[in-house]
Amino acid sequence: MTPNRNYGDRRLWAIITISTIYLHKCPSGKIDSTQFPTANYTKIPYGLSRILLLLTVLMAIEKILVVDDELIIRKSIEEVLRSSRYSVCATANLADAERQLARNTFDLVLLDVKLPDGEGTDLLDRLSHQEVKPLIIMMSGYGTIESAVACMRLGAFDYLLKPFSLNQVEVLVRKAESYRQVLKVNEYLSHEIVGTRDLLGESPAMAHIKQIIRKVGPTDATVLISGENGTGKELIANEIFKASSRSNAPYIKVNCAAVSETLIESEFFGHEKGSFTGATERREGRFELANGGTLLLDEISEVSPRLQAKLLRVLQEREFERVGGSKTIKVDVRVLATTNRDLKKAVENGEFRQDLYYRLNVVPLTAPALRDRQGDIMLLADAMLHTACRSYGVKVKGFSKAAVDALTKHDWPGNVRELQNTIERAVILAEENKYIEPGALGLIHLVDGGSVPGPVMLPAPQIEQSMDGVKPLDEVEREHILRALEITNGNRTQAAQLLKISIRTLRNKLNEYKLECMVA
Ligand SMILES: Nc1ncnc2c1ncn2[C@@H]1O[C@H](COP(=O)(O)OP(=O)(O)OP(=O)(O)O)[C@@H](O)[C@H]1O
Ligand SMILES: [Mg+2]
Repeated sequence: MTPNRNYGDRRLWAIITISTIYLHKCPSGKIDSTQFPTANYTKIPYGLSRILLLLTVLMAIEKILVVDDELIIRKSIEEVLRSSRYSVCATANLADAERQLARNTFDLVLLDVKLPDGEGTDLLDRLSHQEVKPLIIMMSGYGTIESAVACMRLGAFDYLLKPFSLNQVEVLVRKAESYRQVLKVNEYLSHEIVGTRDLLGESPAMAHIKQIIRKVGPTDATVLISGENGTGKELIANEIFKASSRSNAPYIKVNCAAVSETLIESEFFGHEKGSFTGATERREGRFELANGGTLLLDEISEVSPRLQAKLLRVLQEREFERVGGSKTIKVDVRVLATTNRDLKKAVENGEFRQDLYYRLNVVPLTAPALRDRQGDIMLLADAMLHTACRSYGVKVKGFSKAAVDALTKHDWPGNVRELQNTIERAVILAEENKYIEPGALGLIHLVDGGSVPGPVMLPAPQIEQSMDGVKPLDEVEREHILRALEITNGNRTQAAQLLKISIRTLRNKLNEYKLECMVA
């Protein structure tokens, strides 16, 4: 039977051992490893190591490389980290370390400064220039403040001066773990924001867009993306971000139409504690959060004239003050903006500042309407059908000939978003292993030579008559808003345009009638 090992005790043993080492250390501060017994390092039983391995999958640090020519240091660190569930590899020189680094991906490296075949700092320098790199903690027996600072400058995460206790090692590894966890969460959140959807389309119009993205992406130029609702403006902005040199830095979005007039200034620039009722803490705004990265100003046309003036200053000077604050904050932010209104016309109508328009319109990009790139309709439809079938667990044979006909004849006023909603709905209603027919797409009127353009019209709302023949006004208004949202597939901006009210008024009414869930 496998003896029942007590790993807590073994850790204690290791700590005692390394503490004893320091009692025997040479005057130079270096450890005389000859004075130490070669410990009988017992192996962790297989079952337990599997459980530990499973646990490590969930951890921010899994693999650690220890590089030190002193056996006792190497072994003691290896032992204590292994018993704390890390997977540890230890080497005594640079050449072996390089071999391990080429073969494995390490999250953390504990690296001695002086090694028999070279300087640990050279390896630190090389690793720091890699795109994907481990955190590095340097260790030295000849430590001075200057050498520690030099290591940090070269990109070390931290520095351990010998002699150190295993406790110090554990504390530093935990610190590194928290740091990596924050990085991982950040990476995850950025990934969520950017999304995984590819910008599909091979029509000349889309090829042109993709070419501009490739050109402008790596620069820091401000890009203004215009286009009808649902044409993929946000997706284009995401692609620009992905193609930029800031793709590893923050990507912050702010939907200018979704934030209330009273809060938007604080949303952009942050506020100081006590600057207004409810400002119980200091808060950084989106510009500050995006520092070093990219800020997407979605639906920029919805910004009020007062805020337009403030935005102009940030775009020109890259500086601002928090609401209620006097300190000027400087930021380095690349700005992308989208609009579904014709901003040039808004300038002519005196609704948008001309100077701000020019600041934003450095590189103008227009997302083409789907009806203007007919060649892309089936390419998008097929890809969306595939995705929808997979996510709803439905199997269909594809689109029938009549469905293809109807899809290409429809003029898609809601653009790609409308196409996406249409296909998702069809997949949900589809019969297993059958072709999708125009009826399921809600495009039956376009079959057999029909050429009715425009969205699928719903029957006019049946206003139920009350006792005296008149319905309450708010009920009529609610139904009317619902109808506009149905026609526009839940698109708020488009619904507001249909209703000839501002998007902000629509938002307030959605709140009032508790219809927020209807919004795309
Ligand atoms: N070229 C494309 N390839 C794949 N999916 C696309 C494409 N264009 C748009 N989509 C999809 O259509 C939907 C709408 O796109 P997006 O939100 O980028 O449009 P938008 O122009 O910003 O819309 P709105 O004006 O309503 O804000 C999203 O789900 C997006 O993934
Ligand atoms: Mg958008």
